[in-house]
Amino acid sequence: MRVIVGVSGGIAAYKACELVSRLVQAGEEVRVIMTPTATEFVSPLTFRALSGGAVAIGVEDEPEGPLSHITLSHWAQAMVVAPATASLLARLAQGTADNMLSLVYLGFRGPVLVAPAMEPDMWQHPRTEANVRILKEDGVIVVGPREGRLASGRTGVGRMAEPHELVEALRDAVAVKDLAGVRMVVTAGATWEHFDPVRLLTNPSTGRMGVAIANQAARRGAAVVLVSGPRVNLPLHPAVQKRPVVSAVDMLEVVQDAIVSAEVYIGAAAVSDFRPAHPVGTKVHKESLGREWEMEPNPDVIRTIADQHRGKKLMIGFAAETEDAPARAEAKRRKKGLDAVVANMVGGGRGFGEDPHDSWLSTDTGTRPLGRDKDQAAALLLDWVAERIREGAGWKS
Ligand code: C5P
Repeated sequence: MRVIVGVSGGIAAYKACELVSRLVQAGEEVRVIMTPTATEFVSPLTFRALSGGAVAIGVEDEPEGPLSHITLSHWAQAMVVAPATASLLARLAQGTADNMLSLVYLGFRGPVLVAPAMEPDMWQHPRTEANVRILKEDGVIVVGPREGRLASGRTGVGRMAEPHELVEALRDAVAVKDLAGVRMVVTAGATWEHFDPVRLLTNPSTGRMGVAIANQAARRGAAVVLVSGPRVNLPLHPAVQKRPVVSAVDMLEVVQDAIVSAEVYIGAAAVSDFRPAHPVGTKVHKESLGREWEMEPNPDVIRTIADQHRGKKLMIGFAAETEDAPARAEAKRRKKGLDAVVANMVGGGRGFGEDPHDSWLSTDTGTRPLGRDKDQAAALLLDWVAERIREGAGWKS
């Protein structure tokens, strides 16, 4: 992504350094435009070093040669202004093109995000509110400000949104919404099967794969319910609705409820195949090694759901295999009656939760590689889901 980061003159300008650094580390191309006042807070040299490109400030600057404001507004795919002061919001709302940042803003036609940062009284002033209204009407995405401690030492609404939040908001803004309106249930993580209150059967799944799928689907416009086992505390996209569960039986119950109003089920959870047959409510002491350790089979969540909704919902399962992963995934797809199975090669020193895995997607049209990186595998899997939905196979809730 090619991004313009606009920096205006507020104390939060130092946080824009982290924003630029995060974007560059994520492989994005960044050009920084500062207002003249911003240069009083942070040196242009800092941004030049972080972004690897010349920093533009005044309308007469030519970082990209003559007519740099046009070159920059045509080059960028997204623009984020952080921090956005009250004065800059006013300039943008009025179209006052008296510095490079407001000039490029007028010429740019892609998504624009602003991250206001100011004292609460300034943020709540009717003029600022009116300017923000105008900007929103013009399609500008306003991120924050957040509540917290301010430079004045006071506490209130006026803190700039955090850089990681802005990076996410930027990704959201540029994402293709090819899953808009699609409702999905995604499972993630390990289940816990208690023998007694202090002992349980589980596995080392971290939930990363399921969370990557849920977050990316939400970014692509889907409404996602994430049914996750304990200890899956990874950051979630704000549009992901989390329904935590403990055991396989809990998971089946929540999934059965959630799937009714969804079109897609993605079972990325590592569900325990067994559970203690006689769990007890008090701790078992070592002297009494007895029938508490007997096991019984758990329901197969995905198979149960597939049996109930086959042909009406898109059903995708996962398979962890130590050998012949693509062939075994295909066998599992047929056995469980699923539309697709993602096969992950595990073992050989690599286990659950560890990157990289070789993975494949097995569908009725064949098997294709998904690569070794979980985020990339999630993206490719969702490409296939979006394709299936576009084909209009009649998935319904
Ligand atoms: O049969 P196996 O455990 O290899 O299949 C893995 C797939 O089945 C995953 O999608 C997993 O979420 C799902 N599964 C399930 N309920 C179980 C066991 C596995 O939904 N009890």
